[in-house]
Amino acid sequence: MLEVKGLAVSYGGIKAVKGIDLEVRRGELVTLIGANGAGKTTTLKALAGLIRPAAGRIYYNGAEITARPAFELVRRGLALVPEGRGVFGRLTVEENLLMGAYSRGADAEIAADLDRIYAVLPRLAERRRQRAGTLSGGEQQMLAIGRALMSRPRLLLLDEPSMGLAPLMVQKIFETIRAVAREGVTLLLVEQNAKLALETCDRGYVLESGAVAAADTAANLLANSDVKRAYLGE
Ligand SMILES: Nc1ncnc2c1ncn2[C@@H]1O[C@H](COP(=O)(O)OP(=O)(O)OP(=O)(O)O)[C@@H](O)[C@H]1O
Ligand SMILES: [Mg+2]
Repeated sequence: MLEVKGLAVSYGGIKAVKGIDLEVRRGELVTLIGANGAGKTTTLKALAGLIRPAAGRIYYNGAEITARPAFELVRRGLALVPEGRGVFGRLTVEENLLMGAYSRGADAEIAADLDRIYAVLPRLAERRRQRAGTLSGGEQQMLAIGRALMSRPRLLLLDEPSMGLAPLMVQKIFETIRAVAREGVTLLLVEQNAKLALETCDRGYVLESGAVAAADTAANLLANSDVKRAYLGE
């Protein structure tokens, strides 16, 4: 579904991503883990069309999408839930969800999509008339995921959805991620919480200083002594 070859991204003179290869098959849950500054967000932004790669090629469903703009990729089913959520605090939960459908224009199916998202994320249904700014951090993260689902993604890129959340809410977010996957959405998940991410996903990539240091099944990475020491605190 997604194939990345030699992706490189620079900010001025800083090489943030240095030629990485990566792939995600349809229906897979794949995680990208790594320390602060490893290039995880930069990679997702390049895949989502938000920054232009310095080198490399990106293929989505067999077609090259390198440097295609984000709005076009969203229409083609590739969406990003960005780091830090970015919900509209003064709008209600439901208004935020409707913002996620903007790329589709007038559409009679939008109401049905809202119902589907409320079924997957029941906490949002209870709070549909509440202003997003008054939601808890975890609820705002659920809203950001729900808003991305309104574009009917086939491939969803998630950037640190559990960041800054209390342990119980982290569990809830991972439950949400599994529920989204069960809906048939393919997922590429960036996480600092490497243990939970590897326990949830099928495969993983370890990014170190902008390069892929390891790529394997999640089970093998969980058992890998270097990964254990560096990322699992074992
Ligand atoms: N807009 C920018 N301008 C200059 N340098 C940047 C910019 N964004 C990121 N960088 C640099 O690129 C490198 C990779 O950053 P990135 O945000 O991709 O890391 P990350 O793996 O997502 O880290 P974190 O876990 O802290 O979110 C870092 O060294 C960072 O300082
Ligand atoms: Mg980041």
